Amino acid sequence: MATETDHSLGEAVAARIERRWATLSIVIVGVLVGMAAYIGIHQATMPQGRVETADPKTLHLSGEFLESNLGSELAADGSVTVRAIGQQYSFTPQCIVVPAETPITFRATSADVVHGFLIEGTNINTMLVPGYITDLPVRFKAPGDHVMPCQEFCGIGHQGMWGRVKVVDKSTFRDMAAAKRRLTCVD
Ligand code: CUA
Repeated sequence: MATETDHSLGEAVAARIERRWATLSIVIVGVLVGMAAYIGIHQATMPQGRVETADPKTLHLSGEFLESNLGSELAADGSVTVRAIGQQYSFTPQCIVVPAETPITFRATSADVVHGFLIEGTNINTMLVPGYITDLPVRFKAPGDHVMPCQEFCGIGHQGMWGRVKVVDKSTFRDMAAAKRRLTCVD
């Protein structure tokens, strides 16, 4: 039979359990905020407010994504920027060449509809959205060939939309870059 003492004892136990769960949820929120702060600072990811735009109708006329500016560019500090466009139903350049063990930034956009940008054998998997620039820091560990299929349904020719990524060693890339301003491995 429940007594007055049993009753207040039950309340004390309930209060203790409630406090425990409240502490746990505060800890979980703290860990998530900490993770977001760490990723933001460590990988220098930008909040969604810093969105870069590019007008898909004028890509070929002016600006960063002019055809003569597409491909891989070696900067003075040794880093590489790759600029590319996706359009129904190909990538430009069709074959991207990059050095291994080098900080690389992919900058890409779409000239028409949403396309996928996936490099097989890596964790690179994003989208090319018309009107917006996809900016992605990447590092390849070793030389090798990767296929780059469009992984977003973009129309009747979608299944034929493939590119290639060729990772070469650093010195080979540097030799190639000495001879040309923008590099590709398109035959
Ligand atoms: Cu482009 Cu699917």
